[in-house]
Amino acid sequence: MEALSIIHGAAGEHPVEAGIVLGSGLGQLGEQVAGAVSVPYEELPGFPRGGVSGHQGRLIIGQLGGRRVAVFSGREHYYEHGNSAAMRPALETLKALGASTLILTNAAGSLRSEVGPTSIVVHSDYVNWSGRNPLIGEPGDARFVDMRDAYDPALRAKLRDVAVREGIPHHEGVYFWFSGPTFESPAEIRAMKILGADLVGMSTVPEVILARRLGLRVAALSMVTNLAAGFQGAEISHHDTKTVAAKGSAAMIRMITGLLEAGP
Ligand code: HPA
Repeated sequence: MEALSIIHGAAGEHPVEAGIVLGSGLGQLGEQVAGAVSVPYEELPGFPRGGVSGHQGRLIIGQLGGRRVAVFSGREHYYEHGNSAAMRPALETLKALGASTLILTNAAGSLRSEVGPTSIVVHSDYVNWSGRNPLIGEPGDARFVDMRDAYDPALRAKLRDVAVREGIPHHEGVYFWFSGPTFESPAEIRAMKILGADLVGMSTVPEVILARRLGLRVAALSMVTNLAAGFQGAEISHHDTKTVAAKGSAAMIRMITGLLEAGP
């Protein structure tokens, strides 16, 4: 059976309005979903397998901010198997569930010293200098996707309003996708800074590209878990990524819930 019919069988066929992908340490959002039906990824053909600590690996369908949502608690990163299109079946399933909007979250390093750990930064744009693209190999003209408004301007404006209303400091920035799984060298970070980066991380950009190909409107938010390599002497570790992200996740949950309430 395909993922779509398994999800319909478990959660009913009522359409979903938005999808939310949870980044490292941000799994707490899944617990806020009302009337939640949860399906482990192992039961969904094409969904990510195995995974990374700090990610749960389940799809949660239910209500958040007054909307029916599909929460992807766990993603596959490029560095796991070298497949930048790994999230394609999951995002195609989201589209087939009826969603028009995708909200992406992640943990990231900050290249702005005044935007430190637990800050939330809304993505304004991205840099993909990886040489990888999840649409490579796709036939036809639909692969030539316009990326001028990769991050939907109306969703960004709503996120700004939510931040102001909730008293959460509002930042926007450019996210630079780095393959990982190593953290960056200080020289790489200095180069990224010259290239316009405010944030660096190992996810999200392939998903934005896939989602735009599917015609979904996209918003992305980073939880800053550390200043990027070379900004400080302290070691950068995945352990810290998970614990700092969990510390800041209440504000992230308020941002996303507020966006859903405002209409995704
Ligand atoms: N670099 C890349 N990815 C990250 C970082 C970082 O400094 N922090 C959290 N995810």
